[in-house]
Amino acid sequence: MLRMQAPLPDRYRTATPDQLDSWIAAAKDHLGDRLLILGHHYQRDEVMRWADARGDSFRLSQLAAADTRAEYIVFCGVHFMAESADILTAATQQVVLPDLNAGCSMADMADIDSVEEAWEALAAVIDVERLVPITYMNSSAALKAFVGRAGGSVCTSTNARAVLEWALGRGDQVLFFPDQHLGRNTGLAMGFDHADMVVWNPRLDRGGLSEAQCKSATFLLWKGHCSVHQRFTPEQVSAFRAAHPDGIVLAHPETPYEVCELADMVGSTDAIIRRVGAAPPGSTIGVATEIHLVQRLAAEHADRAVLSLDPIVCPCSTMFRIDAPHLAWVLEGLVDGEVRNRITVDPETARWAKVALERMLSIT
Ligand code: 13P
Ligand code: SF4
Repeated sequence: MLRMQAPLPDRYRTATPDQLDSWIAAAKDHLGDRLLILGHHYQRDEVMRWADARGDSFRLSQLAAADTRAEYIVFCGVHFMAESADILTAATQQVVLPDLNAGCSMADMADIDSVEEAWEALAAVIDVERLVPITYMNSSAALKAFVGRAGGSVCTSTNARAVLEWALGRGDQVLFFPDQHLGRNTGLAMGFDHADMVVWNPRLDRGGLSEAQCKSATFLLWKGHCSVHQRFTPEQVSAFRAAHPDGIVLAHPETPYEVCELADMVGSTDAIIRRVGAAPPGSTIGVATEIHLVQRLAAEHADRAVLSLDPIVCPCSTMFRIDAPHLAWVLEGLVDGEVRNRITVDPETARWAKVALERMLSIT
């Protein structure tokens, strides 16, 4: 989805890193407890150093839901995370995304019209009362609202298994969007087989599936993916293992299953951080996830070799849009009483999206 971020004023574009740091520090100091800066683990260091709290998307949603103090929540992450924070916080709290172009290509792979069309097409062949829609956190508020109305839940990579177990306790089938890989990897970890899963292609009639396939599949997985994690390959794992026979391989569940099945551990961003922290000094750890996190882990654990499995650097280009100039620009706006780049969700969408988000928070 294209959102328009106007170019920053010259003051920010031409500032030196030291100037930006001093402006950000001064604004933080001025705003004090009225400000909470949240940073996703994929943020670059020049931004992350200013975060009051860091986390994966699940942790950050918990933090946003729990905070009642801050008047302004500056979300250093991507658009869907800022929307979720707006939904989970009080009406008096304002959520700000420093660069409006910080979207998520995966979230854009499922839009509300295509999901509603899919639901209608499925209703013609199966009992949708027994079909539970689950949306990954990486989706628009409109999709979260759809799921809330239809009796489903949001999930993140931290709690996908618990949410899918919950879903299959209240229905027979799951429509999972937008990330086919998280759905497939979680289903396989739960003991299901590839034969229990089909991929719904929103560009084709009835998802490109036969009536029989729609009826028999336990998991209908939306044809979406993360452009960062989909880059990892089994060949990279083999090359790493050949070079480091005692090495440990960690993969994020947005990575294709051919890689995950070769990994020593598949887990969310937070799980990867914990596993690296628990590895003995001297370990060599190959990680399949976003490069800023891998580099930060390498810097924080100098007694371990933490390497990206992808020899060609793979940043998330939209997370990367949040930088010190944009952070300084929104913070100085707040000091001047001007809320720049506020993210809001309309009340009706927010009401139902909150139902789906709170279901997730109560399941896990
Ligand atoms: P988590 O923060 O849930 O690990 O997800 C990673 C991601 O891709 C965020 O966009
Ligand atoms: Fe989206 Fe992938 Fe970037 Fe996460 S890493 S924000 S899923 S494109």
